[in-house]
Amino acid sequence: MNHVWVIVLSYLAGSFPTALIMGYILKGVDIRTLGSGNMGATNVFRQLGVAAGIVTLLLDMFKGFASAYWISRLGSGDPVGLMILAGVSAILGHTFTVFGGFRGGKGVATATGMVLAIAPLIVLICALVFILTTLLTGYVSVASMLAVSLFGLIHIVLYFLGYEISRWLLIFSIIIPFFIVWTHRSNVKNLIRGEEGRFENLMIFRR
Ligand code: G3P
Repeated sequence: MNHVWVIVLSYLAGSFPTALIMGYILKGVDIRTLGSGNMGATNVFRQLGVAAGIVTLLLDMFKGFASAYWISRLGSGDPVGLMILAGVSAILGHTFTVFGGFRGGKGVATATGMVLAIAPLIVLICALVFILTTLLTGYVSVASMLAVSLFGLIHIVLYFLGYEISRWLLIFSIIIPFFIVWTHRSNVKNLIRGEEGRFENLMIFRR
């Protein structure tokens, strides 16, 4: 029964529609009708400015962190397994938010907050790769997919090198890159067509 509470509360925490609220408060619009249409920090950054983007990023990360770090403690059993359960519920809440007609964001910020509670050092490495990729390419979507894939890959490699990795963390590491690429499917299509929105002013080597 405790597990049900972990799932329900984490899903509700993840469902908190940060980007939607920012859009309504700051511009009186539905963020889903602007830019990429995504209910996430990148689109808020694009449409409502740097400060709003950072606030959205931090709040979306907090949803994942709070679920994995605190809400998971309501359950009994394997702590890492419970953190994964809570974090995944929050990611699903964010992506399929009950407060936005089950259409939410792409899950990267919430997943980052979640794994920050589980493997902070590896998150740091992935964050550096994310920042570097954004600065080099200007594509946040590419940086997101790369960083999340790297997170998964590092854990898989560590497992095969004999490090003790929780089986739930391993399963999460295998699945999360596919899930994030799936949530970015419209970005992948745009990248192939050469139509993906690029943050040119963030690029260190501008053409
Ligand atoms: O995590 C979302 C980001 O990678 C892409 O956002 O708005 O460009 O689709 P967006």
